[in-house]
This record gives sequence, structure tokens and C-alpha cells, in this order.
Amino acid sequence: MKHLVVRSVLRGLLVNGGRSGRYISTVTAASTAGVLKPTEVWTELRSRYGTSFDVFYWRRMISSNATETAVAEKLKTEKSVEKQAEKGVESFKTSDGTVVSSYWGISKPKILREDGTEWPWNCFMPWETYRSNTAIDLSKHHVPKTFLDKFAYRTVKLLRVPTDIFFQRRYGCRAMMLETVAAVPGMVGGMLLHLRSLRRFQQSGGWIKALLEEAENERMHLMTMVELVQPKWYERLLVLAVQGVFFNAYFVLYLLSPKLAHRITGYLEEEAIHSYTEFLKDIKNGKIENVPAPAIAIDYWRLPKDATLEDAITVIRADEAHHRDVNHFASDIHYQGKELREAPAPLGYH
Ligand SMILES: [Fe+2]
Ligand SMILES: [Fe+2]
Repeated sequence: MKHLVVRSVLRGLLVNGGRSGRYISTVTAASTAGVLKPTEVWTELRSRYGTSFDVFYWRRMISSNATETAVAEKLKTEKSVEKQAEKGVESFKTSDGTVVSSYWGISKPKILREDGTEWPWNCFMPWETYRSNTAIDLSKHHVPKTFLDKFAYRTVKLLRVPTDIFFQRRYGCRAMMLETVAAVPGMVGGMLLHLRSLRRFQQSGGWIKALLEEAENERMHLMTMVELVQPKWYERLLVLAVQGVFFNAYFVLYLLSPKLAHRITGYLEEEAIHSYTEFLKDIKNGKIENVPAPAIAIDYWRLPKDATLEDAITVIRADEAHHRDVNHFASDIHYQGKELREAPAPLGYH
């Protein structure tokens, strides 16, 4: 362990020595000008910057001397580095015990849950969690009237046929696979709006963020489902193929007609609500075991500690209803001949 600590810190110091040298050179200039004696400089810096100065000083020592000095210093300062690592001042330990230099100031702060226990996730933070609006109207449907709407509706209905044949009532597996697709439209839409904002020097009205949030939310649905169902090799292969086709198709479609793209997504979300309703039916009638909700779902949706799969699916279904409304709304904006940025984006739900 000691070797790991020292090697890790040494590497960081040798690579980054230039910057710390610049910091110290100011001090050296001051001391040679007779403003402060070296010992006074040390005391001053210690009092001003606390123990973190120990590491800065040590960096300077390493970067300014020959290799043999570095080896000697390594032994001399080993204890001090370990002490720093323990305090988490300039480095921290990863789960496998490796000490990582936090020279860039990106070390993870200790975050606690409301009940005082340590926050276990790196993939999302407490301020990104929320309570899903389960009171949302699940039965809303956009009646297709125009040719494009009918085309969107028929396309989604057509896509459902092979899905029904392939998965039948294996709703866990079905949900997991479909979430790999559901997380694509928001990312494509958000990315294209981002690029448009750059090209036109215009704000997006919050829509970039809203669509990227949707993509992230869908990905969290997937992260929840994979805790319950492990994909088989041929399912992974299917995801690869479907993603390759769907991403590119949706990308081109969004460029050609965002109006149609959002409408298709709106109808896809309506189908997702239907699928999760059937999933819940199978949980209620005992065909699918109502196991405890995955820990990631409990934290992400702020569910009670004893939440079950039924609770997790209920909040996921509410999310889908929200995505349905957002995407039909986006399509409606385009139908009115406007750009998305002209209407306020539905931010803050996720
Ligand atoms: Fe989803
Ligand atoms: Fe969705």
C-alpha cells in the first residue's frame, strides 16, 4: 500500500511540478528580496494555506532536484503523504484502496443522505433525484388527424408487432430492451438543438436541457431494469443492431422533420405506458414476483426503503407519461410553425 501511495503521488508531482514551481518561485523571490526569511515564508504559508501547503512544498522539492534527491525525498516524505491521504486533503482512496491525487480538485466530496448515511452513487447525486408525479393522467392520447400524425401513429403501431412477437409477456425483458431505444430520441434532439444553438448564436429556450434530461431519465429506467433482468448474449446483439439503425434513422428524421420525430416519440411513450400497465397487471396477479425495488430506484425516485418492484414500475410509468406530454407538446409547437425555443421548455420535472 505504501508503495502505491508514494508511486501515485510521485507520478502526479513529477508531471505537474511546473505549475507548483511557479507558485513557489513567488515565495522564493520574496524571500531573496529580504522580505521574509525562508523559515518565516514557510510559517506564513502554513498559516495561510494550512496543511495543503505541505504537499505544494513537497512538489517543489521533487521538481527542482535530480532523480537521486527524489528517491531520498520519497522515503523522507512517505509518512507525510500517507497522513495527507488519510485526511483526504490532497488525495483520496478509491474503493480498491488506491490513492488518487486530487491535484485537479476533482475529488468527490462526502455526501450524506437525509438520514445521515453516506450517498453511495457516483452516477447521480441527491439533487438530481425527485418524486415522480404518479397523479399524471395516463390515458391522454393525441388523436392523429394530419397525414404526418397518422404516419407517426401507424409507424409506432407497426413497430409494436415484432416487439409483441419477440417478447410476448416477458415484461421485464421487454422493458429493459425498449429502454435502450427510448433513451435515444432525447439525446439526438438535445444534441441537434445544441448544434443549432451554436450555429445560430441563439438560446434554445431550455429545450436542450429538457431533452437531455429526458434521455438521462430513460437511461435511469434502463439502469433500474438491468438490476432485475440480465440481458442474454443475443439480446445484447439485438441492442447493438437496433441502436445502430435507430440512432441514425432518428438523427436523419429529426433533421428533416422535428415535428414528425417528436410525434413518433410521443406515440412511443404512449406504447411505453401501455407496456408498463401490463407489467403492473402481471405483478398484481402474481405472474411476476413483486421483489424489493432495486436500491438505485429507491434513491433516484426517493422511494421508501421498503419499496417494491410495483412501486418502481409505477414511477417509471409516470415518467413515460411525462415524456409523452413533452414530446406531443414539442410536435404541437412545430405544427404552429414555431421553433421550440419560442415556447418555454418543461424543465425541472426530472
Ligand atoms: Fe423509459
Ligand atoms: Fe419515456
